[in-house]
Amino acid sequence: MNAVFPGSFDPITSGHMDVLTRAARIFDHVTVTVMHNARKQGRHLFTLDERLEILREATAHFPNVSVDTFGGLLVDYMARQESGSVIVRGLRAVSDYEYELQIAHLNRQIGDAETVFIMAATRWSFVSSSMVREIASYGGNVSEMVPRASASALRRKHADVYEEREAELQTQTAGS
Ligand code: PNS
Repeated sequence: MNAVFPGSFDPITSGHMDVLTRAARIFDHVTVTVMHNARKQGRHLFTLDERLEILREATAHFPNVSVDTFGGLLVDYMARQESGSVIVRGLRAVSDYEYELQIAHLNRQIGDAETVFIMAATRWSFVSSSMVREIASYGGNVSEMVPRASASALRRKHADVYEEREAELQTQTAGS
């Protein structure tokens, strides 16, 4: 049985990686699909191409995982998949559940698409792409919270901030 793991992945986090690792053990094949909306392009930190590049690098070690993108309704994407394919979504905490339940029911109603939830390990319960983006925008250390490909991309995106903060920290250390 195959699965699709859809999301914005702006960028992929260690929580996503944990869910993907578990999904790749359960399903024959998992496609990580960046869902994009041309009208919402500017809302993301990383461009679609950047997100795909990060995902390809972060998932290269999985023999049964591939990366894809789709710019429409998830149910239309699911209709193109092998029969019986399911949507995989990760749950970090109870707070995710209400939103995910609504989407899962809607996807079943409008496209007969089935959703399987996989719980991320508790250590990732506080990690989200938006929090990671926030920390990185101030030059903070996110290396534990994201795979190496995301950390490098965040560092490149905020190179000035990281250099400035590191220089400040060095000055403080030298002065103490
Ligand atoms: O990583 P995210 O942002 O939580 O992922 C949400 C995503 C992309 C899976 C969801 O917004 C989605 O499926 N978008 C595609 C458009 C769609 O099918 N919308 C109807 C269900 S809300």
